[in-house]
Amino acid sequence: MTTVSVFGGTGFLGRRLVRRLAAEGSAVRVAVRHPDRARSALRAAGLGRVTVFGADVRDQAAVASVVAGADAVVNAVSAYVETGGVTFEAVHERGAKTVAREAAAAGVARFVLVSGIGADPTSGSPYIRARGRGERAVQEEFPGATIVRPSAMFGPGDALFSTLAHLARLLPVLPLIGGGRTRLQPVYVEDVAEAIARILADPGTAGRTYEIAGPGMYTLRELFEITLRLTGRRRLLVPVPFAVVELPTRLLERQPGSPLTTGQIDLLKADNVASGSLPGLRELNIEPKAVEEIVPTYLSRSKLLDRS
Ligand SMILES: NC(=O)c1ccc[n+]([C@@H]2O[C@H](COP(=O)([O-])OP(=O)(O)OC[C@H]3O[C@@H](n4cnc5c(N)ncnc54)[C@H](OP(=O)(O)O)[C@@H]3O)[C@@H](O)[C@H]2O)c1
Repeated sequence: MTTVSVFGGTGFLGRRLVRRLAAEGSAVRVAVRHPDRARSALRAAGLGRVTVFGADVRDQAAVASVVAGADAVVNAVSAYVETGGVTFEAVHERGAKTVAREAAAAGVARFVLVSGIGADPTSGSPYIRARGRGERAVQEEFPGATIVRPSAMFGPGDALFSTLAHLARLLPVLPLIGGGRTRLQPVYVEDVAEAIARILADPGTAGRTYEIAGPGMYTLRELFEITLRLTGRRRLLVPVPFAVVELPTRLLERQPGSPLTTGQIDLLKADNVASGSLPGLRELNIEPKAVEEIVPTYLSRSKLLDRS
């Protein structure tokens, strides 16, 4: 039986990956900062046999205990906001390096780092730079590591359509950040989980970088329009320069439930789409699900009413 350690295994992506790996018979270890929360969530999801470790990627000794004896390690940890001791550099760069180094030292065969399209070690954005430097550090520490760069992910509970719907419920006028012209290529979160499972199963994927994007490209304006159509709302869409949303976002992003972070604004400053020069879902023989097929199953006026 294969043993896979998943850092961030309770996250939006991580919990789908854990379910997928457990279903194929792998022994799965989940490493997170809040193990008690993780145990009850996994039990509720029928995954009570998954082993849970309390391990912060900033804690080298805890990381070492999670990777010892594992066949594969996936780092799907996320930090979207800098607060307290959590900085992008500490989690996405140094934390990523620690997990890769300890995995290599433990003789782990396969390593996957979940990063993101747009990661760039030379970026002026602290978030995007830390993602790029994290990729580089992981490749140095674990040369056979596979880097997975998803585009914005969608699925029930996402931070994309669910957030747009939330904003549409709260605000009479919706801000088209940066004019709403940025193009995104949203990908279904289950397709990303499947991609990682296939990467782990295929030694030929070692050392490669994958861009995992969906089948369609949409501007931010189009994503707002889809959300409004599905939720049956009419709202004015008003173009707003990046600089105008940056300051309030900086002030509010540490509040629980804040819909936007400065890192996300930075990502919106360039198109977030696959470059076309790296392998993706097609090379993994995955037919990606479209926004139009999946989003109406969890984002529609009737679904929202069901929940209220
Ligand atoms: N969501 C998207 O649309 C999107 C798009 C592109 C790329 N990505 C990337 O995909 C990855 C997963 O994202 P996600 O949206 O699934 O994240 P998420 O829902 O925010 O989940 C983050 C996970 O990481 C754990 N975690 C956070 N800080 C940690 C730390 N210091 N040490 C150990 N565990 C920690 C969290 O559990 P605890 O809080 O209990 O520690 C949780 O399990 C990230 O690398 C993200 O940047 C996401």
